Amino acid sequence: MDQKVILTGIKPTGNPHLGNWVGAIRPTVELSRDPAKHGFYFIADYHALTGLKDAAELRDYTYQVAASWIALGLDPESVVFYRQSDVPEVFELSWILACFSPKGLMNRAHAYKAVVQKNQEAGEEDLDAGVNMGLYTYPILMAADILIMQSHWVPVGRDQQQHVEIARDLAQYFNRQYRAEVFTLPEALIDEKGAVIPGLDGRKMSKSYGNTIPIFTPPDQLRKLVFRIATDSSRPGEPKDPESSTIFQLYRLLAKPEDTEAFADEYRKGIAWKDAKEALYALLETTLSGPWARYQDLIAHPEELDRIFAQGAEKARDVASRTMREVRRAVGISH
Ligand code: ADP
Ligand code: TRP
Repeated sequence: MDQKVILTGIKPTGNPHLGNWVGAIRPTVELSRDPAKHGFYFIADYHALTGLKDAAELRDYTYQVAASWIALGLDPESVVFYRQSDVPEVFELSWILACFSPKGLMNRAHAYKAVVQKNQEAGEEDLDAGVNMGLYTYPILMAADILIMQSHWVPVGRDQQQHVEIARDLAQYFNRQYRAEVFTLPEALIDEKGAVIPGLDGRKMSKSYGNTIPIFTPPDQLRKLVFRIATDSSRPGEPKDPESSTIFQLYRLLAKPEDTEAFADEYRKGIAWKDAKEALYALLETTLSGPWARYQDLIAHPEELDRIFAQGAEKARDVASRTMREVRRAVGISH
């Protein structure tokens, strides 16, 4: 098999929003259409457990992320699409990799450091407050996800680049220790022109700021959200700067270049904010109406998603168990 392996995961920690679509779902859907690559796309549900302890939410978000990914173009027949928790081999490898991870490497990992920094800023005495071992060893489980499928390329946002580098380090330590090429060395694939999508208040759209527009939301709610986007106080007829407008930035992400140009002209001519919002809503509605129907259908039939997960798990476990046979042999655990 000479095809390069491409793999990525999404953590089901919320109902996906437009930022997740443009920053994570859309680029991976494009990559998944490249026939020269063998694609593994999965829902990192056990990673979500580091922070999400509500069982119903974890279950719902897992279905919502899967349904969104498929509705927006990921074809589960042409890639391996699965749930992390359905591949027990990943957790076995995670332990083995933990035995190769210097503790200091985890101290430097970004997910952990972010919490330490927050504690510092809050004047908290215990800098490790709120850190569970799942969060602390998060990069090891992520390395297991990546290495078990012998991934060459891992498309991720810039914030995850360090975790892919850790996976590469661990693969090298392991290969060197056993003088064997057990693991492929992975590389992060960063979308350099990846835009940061602004949210309702103009800051980065993020569920932690509560300023998101969910991708799949009923049309009347979508319209209400679009009308909540913050604008300045300039009046109809006053020229407006498209670049500093959240409405314009969202519009540009979905529109054809010539329509974007025409919209920018409207700004210069002093479009009323109400009309700009109406135009953005209409564009979102048209762009999402097809995927919306597919999404609804999948969410209404979780048994169909379960079938897709089961089919993906079988293919994923086939590859994972082959890697694990070599790993076990290398370390001296043979059955
Ligand atoms: P959130 O900030 O809402 O918690 P996550 O951190 O779970 O979102 O992000 C999941 C993925 O979506 C990541 O790959 C991230 O790069 C992408 N993403 C999230 N928000 C945005 C945004 N506002 N613009 C672009 N990409 C984003
Ligand atoms: N940690 C990634 C995130 O928070 C999700 C993830 C888990 C992942 N395992 C992965 C991404 C393996 C790429 C490869 O976005």
